[in-house]
Amino acid sequence: MKFETRAKSHHNSSGIFSKYYPPERLSEEILLNKLSEKPKDVPRVIYVHTPYCDKICSFCNLNREQLNGSLDSYAEYIAKEFEKYGQYRYFKERPVDVIYFGGGTPTVYKNNQLEKILESIKKNIKLSEDYEFTLETTLHNLSDEKIETLNRYGVNRLSVGIQSFTTEGRKFYNRTYAKDETIRRLKDLKIKFNGEVCVDIIYNYPDQKIEDVRSDARTVKELDLGSVSFYSLMVHEGSALSKDIKEDRIKLDESLKRERELHDAFVEELTSDGDYYLLELTKIAKKGRDKYRYIKARSFGGDTFPIGVGAGGNVDDITIFRMKKEMAMFVEKSEHQQRLDRLTGLFQFPVIEKKIAEKFLIDGEKKIFEEIMTKLKDGGYVVENEKTYTLTEDGVFWGNNISREVLVRLVEGTLEK
Ligand SMILES: C[S@@+](CC[C@H](N)C(=O)[O-])C[C@H]1O[C@@H](n2cnc3c(N)ncnc32)[C@H](O)[C@@H]1O
Ligand code: SF4
Repeated sequence: MKFETRAKSHHNSSGIFSKYYPPERLSEEILLNKLSEKPKDVPRVIYVHTPYCDKICSFCNLNREQLNGSLDSYAEYIAKEFEKYGQYRYFKERPVDVIYFGGGTPTVYKNNQLEKILESIKKNIKLSEDYEFTLETTLHNLSDEKIETLNRYGVNRLSVGIQSFTTEGRKFYNRTYAKDETIRRLKDLKIKFNGEVCVDIIYNYPDQKIEDVRSDARTVKELDLGSVSFYSLMVHEGSALSKDIKEDRIKLDESLKRERELHDAFVEELTSDGDYYLLELTKIAKKGRDKYRYIKARSFGGDTFPIGVGAGGNVDDITIFRMKKEMAMFVEKSEHQQRLDRLTGLFQFPVIEKKIAEKFLIDGEKKIFEEIMTKLKDGGYVVENEKTYTLTEDGVFWGNNISREVLVRLVEGTLEK
C-alpha cells in the first residue's frame, strides 16, 4: 500500500455512505423527541460556532465571514438557543463533558455579548465535574476584561491561533504582532487566564526552513504551553492564497519530501526530551497537562450537540447541521455508519487497541479489517503488538489517508458485493 497525495485533515464519512444509502431527512421534531427521552450514558459535547472574524486570513477557508456591524443579535440568538434546548431532559438529567467554541473567532464578541452567552450557559447547562470548556481565539481579540470574563464563567482552555512564531511565518499568514510581542502576550495570557493555554501552528509555508519549524517547537516548550496543533498548510483551490502560490513552483515529489521533513522535525524537536508526546495525529501535548477531551469525545462516538450558524454534530443517530439561524438539516445516521465512524475515529490516535476496534466490527468485516491491517503492516505504516496496533512515523504522517482507506475498504468490501 502506498499513498501519493496526503490527506491533511480528517474526512467525515457522509460522502462515502451517501453513495450507498440516500440520506434520510428528518424533522426537528424527531430531534426534540429524542431530547425528551432519558439521556444515554455517552460522552457529551456542545459545539458552538461563531462564523465571524474581524480580519480575514487569505489561507483560511473555514466557515467564517468578515464581521460587519454588531454581533448583538447573534449573541442573543446563541444565548436563546441554550435557553431553548436547556429545557429538555437531555440537558437537565445529565451533565455535559465538553463545551467547544470554534470559528471563525469566538472571542470577536464584545465583552457584554460574551457575558450574555456565558450567563445563558451557566443558567441552562449542567457541566460535569471535570468538564473541559474551550474557546478558540486569536491574540488580538483578547482583552484583559474578556480574559476576566472567561475566568469568571469557568472557561478552562484557550486554543490560540498563532500559526507561526517566526517573523517570515507571521508575515506570510498576515498575523497581528511581531514575534516578540506574540511571545510577551502569550506569557501574559498564561498568568491572567486560569486554564490551559494551547496554540495552533501551520507549517509548510513557502520557503519555510527546517530551522523555522524547530524554532517554533522550541518556543512552544519554552512557553510551557499545554499543547500544540500542527497543521500542514492547505492551499484551497480558488482561495486568495492559491493565486499567490504557484503550485508548480516545486515538483509534487519534492514538495511532499519537504513537507515530511518539516513535519518530522517539528515532532522530533518537541517530543525528543520526553516532556511532550503525540496525543493525536496533529496534536502534541505536554504530559499531565492538556487532555483535549473534545477530540476524544468526538472521535470515540460521543454526542456533539451543535449550536450556531455553521455548526454540525450529532445526537445519537441524528446528524445535525445548522445552515442559518432558522434553518437546520437533520439526517438519520445508520448503525453501520455510526460503527465505522467510531472505528476510523480510533485511527486519529497513534495507538489503536485491538479490543476496542473489534467492538465496532461485525463478522463479515473482521476479515476485511485484518487484510487491511496486514497491508498497512507490510507498507510500514503500523506495527502489530499483542493488544494494539501502533502507527509508525510513516503511519502518523499518512494517518488521515489511513483512516479514510480503512473506511472505504470496509464499506466497499461489504456493500459492493
Ligand atoms: C478557527 S481557526 C482558530 C481561531 C482563530 N480564528 C485564529 O485564526 O487564530 C482554526 C485553525 O485552523 C487552522 N487553519 C486554518 N486554515 C488553514 C489552512 N489553510 N491550512 C492549515 N490549517 C489551517 C489554523 O491553525 C487555525 O488556527
Ligand atoms: S484563520 Fe482564524 S482569523 Fe483567520 S480567517 Fe480563519 S478563522 Fe478567521
